[in-house]
Amino acid sequence: MNKKLKITLWTVLIVLIAIQFIPVDRENPKVDVEHDFLVASQAPEQIQHLFKSACYDCHSNETVWPWYAYVAPTSLLVGNHVLEGREHLNFSNWTIYDAEDHPAILKHIKKEISNNAMPLAGYTLLHPEAKLSDEQKVLMTDYIDSLIEKTKIQVEQ
Ligand code: HEC
Repeated sequence: MNKKLKITLWTVLIVLIAIQFIPVDRENPKVDVEHDFLVASQAPEQIQHLFKSACYDCHSNETVWPWYAYVAPTSLLVGNHVLEGREHLNFSNWTIYDAEDHPAILKHIKKEISNNAMPLAGYTLLHPEAKLSDEQKVLMTDYIDSLIEKTKIQVEQ
């Protein structure tokens, strides 16, 4: 092995070891089911399953941390997605959000699903079960539509 290659390999190894020490917060905040989107909206089991397998790892406090969330550099990527995902939308805090904001958030969720923007592409690569078929997407967006309708009725009352 030539010297240059040896130095490069050692550098890569040292960097790989060093980045293992960058902390990643994998602690799930406490879950109060009362505030959960699926519980509060009394979602049917099939709908619960779809949201839990396609969205909840990044958009709830019920994240299931995979083995690669314990090894850098993937751990940094996963940690960041979960942190950012929860910041944008946290299904565990659904009833904590202002009810007035629910219709707009629901529309956002529908848009992300029908545009194939969510779940993130990298995620479905590693979680093939989270890849949504057209039929599953329609089930989810129809459910979201039914909730939007309900919020309208509540506003009118
Ligand atoms: C791998 C993690 C991951 C998964 C799984 C995931 N999301 Fe996201 N989501 C993110 C991240 C990160 C953001 C913020 C950055 C962005 O918009 O790309 C986000 C943003 C969003 C937003 C807000 C967009 C905005 O512009 O504010 C909505 C709505 C959303 N996701 C819905 C969903 C739904 C619905 C699912 C399931 C079908 C889902 N996400 C699955 C990571 C994820």
